Amino acid sequence: MRVFIGYVSLSGNTEKMAVNIKNRMMAVGCEVYMERLDTVEVDTLKDFDLSFIGLYTWDQEELPYEANEFYEELVQADPQGVKVALFGAGDWSQPRPCGAIDIVSNKMKSCGFAVYDRVLKIDQEAPAPDRIRQCEDFADRALSWGSKRKKWRFFIWNRMQNNPKYQRTAYLLRRALDDYPIK
Ligand SMILES: Cc1cc2nc3c(=O)[nH]c(=O)nc-3n(C[C@H](O)[C@H](O)[C@H](O)COP(=O)(O)O)c2cc1C
Repeated sequence: MRVFIGYVSLSGNTEKMAVNIKNRMMAVGCEVYMERLDTVEVDTLKDFDLSFIGLYTWDQEELPYEANEFYEELVQADPQGVKVALFGAGDWSQPRPCGAIDIVSNKMKSCGFAVYDRVLKIDQEAPAPDRIRQCEDFADRALSWGSKRKKWRFFIWNRMQNNPKYQRTAYLLRRALDDYPIK
């Protein structure tokens, strides 16, 4: 699986989330590319099986200024086959914490992108272990949502064959499935 993580962050909270998601995706064998959102074009997302978009929220549910261009480009982009999961940090004392995530999520849905129904919003004060646990859990769930069944099965199969721990199981499976080869 090729995974893209695009984020904007001023004081570092959303960036930490992006790094936690990146580490998790790499640990399960994904190829991960991470960039700041203001340096990429929306059509870049087409090159990936799954994209994570991270944003902080500013000034009563405003988009961060670094995300404006990305947001404006959404209407012209080709959303076909693009799968996106959104995350970000905010302030739980605000009436609608992390409002920018909802703004981008709604816009992407209305433009025809496949947007994961769950979003990950984390309070700026969240302790690191909580943040890491939530990011990893979100990354796992988004990955299983974003994986095409066949592709995911093939990915697990490849990992099993390359991992000494599963080599015997893979060998037995291969023999048992001789009549029904995994393609
Ligand atoms: C001037 C200012 C306005 C903010 N407005 C909001 C807001 O409307 N909603 C919200 O959830 N968080 C708001 N925040 C909190 C930030 O989103 C929060 O600090 C977040 O962790 C910043 O992300 P970053 O560390 O990735 O830059 C505001 C913070 C500042 C300094």
